[in-house]
Amino acid sequence: MDGLGELRGKYLAAVAGAADEAALEEVRLAALGKKGEIALKMRELGGMTPEERQVAGPRLNGLRDEVEGALKARKAALADAALDERLKAEWLDVTLPGRRRGQGTVHPVSQVTEEVTAIFADMGFAVAEGPQIESDWYNFDALNIPPEHPARQEHDTFFMARAPGDDRPPHVLRTHTSPVQIRAMAAQGAPIRVIAPGRVYRMDMDQTHTPMFHQVEGLAIDRDISMAQLKWVLEEFCRAYFEVTQVELRFRASHFPFTEPSAEVDIRCSWEGGQLKIGEGASWLEILGSGMVHPKVLSAAGVDPTEWQGFAFGMGIDRIAMLKYGIPDLRAFFESDLRWLRHYGFAALDMPTVSGGLSR
Ligand code: PHE
Repeated sequence: MDGLGELRGKYLAAVAGAADEAALEEVRLAALGKKGEIALKMRELGGMTPEERQVAGPRLNGLRDEVEGALKARKAALADAALDERLKAEWLDVTLPGRRRGQGTVHPVSQVTEEVTAIFADMGFAVAEGPQIESDWYNFDALNIPPEHPARQEHDTFFMARAPGDDRPPHVLRTHTSPVQIRAMAAQGAPIRVIAPGRVYRMDMDQTHTPMFHQVEGLAIDRDISMAQLKWVLEEFCRAYFEVTQVELRFRASHFPFTEPSAEVDIRCSWEGGQLKIGEGASWLEILGSGMVHPKVLSAAGVDPTEWQGFAFGMGIDRIAMLKYGIPDLRAFFESDLRWLRHYGFAALDMPTVSGGLSR
């Protein structure tokens, strides 16, 4: 068998000259691929006499092994070189001083959540949490909103996708923080005093509505809790939150399936000169929904309604943030405009406390 020496020289040189992995692969195919030159030579072995084959076989195998070995070595060398390149390009001097990017600020929603939490913590409310993707049962049924109840329509719910053929009720993006009432009572039983701040979702978008917004739920259950305590707690809250000495609340009869009786609560205010003032004036601003927890809701959460009773309320965090800090458009809350964040943001290390001041 002739020309093996030539083939050897040709392919070892080609391997050595391949500049990258793609070029190397081309060399491999030309030599050892199905129609590669060395592969074709190996096929010729079949037509040889045993004596010829005894000589040519080992030589061909040797050649193939040698080219294969060279390919492998070159591949490893190319990979090493590429890594070296990267290390050279991506090195970082960790001893350099940090680059100033200006001052970050705390978002008004975070600030107000902290303020609200501090005020209610002061009154003995712990913080409870629940998932944002909620089951139909927690978001609706357990709150006395059965299927076909008209309140379901009012919630403009986002539904999660179901697998084809799955006819169970789909999970939803929770439309309010009220399902956390159920979760907290089921987990802790009564008596209980919790608030539950968090994100909620409804299909709605205008100057005062965004598809995601924030609520804080309040829940107090004991043996003899009444509307009177609800009123006191909310007045205390408003005085502390709006940082005014005088507030006046108005309870307006309303309806929620999960409370009975139910009340929407307005706060007295004035809009003189376009400036909102809380606690004085002739206008009223709705700030929350509330009521006495419905016996069916207690039962759904495993709390005996013949022994326990109490109040619940739900308040829009973004809404009370707009009111306190004079922010006119809710949509701007979620646009991540740095200029807006700098203007309305809060210093990062000022933790709101009731005794130390909430917003100063
Ligand atoms: N979940 C109600 C809403 O989103 C608010 C609410 C909470 C009302 C608790 C009463 C009691 O509108």
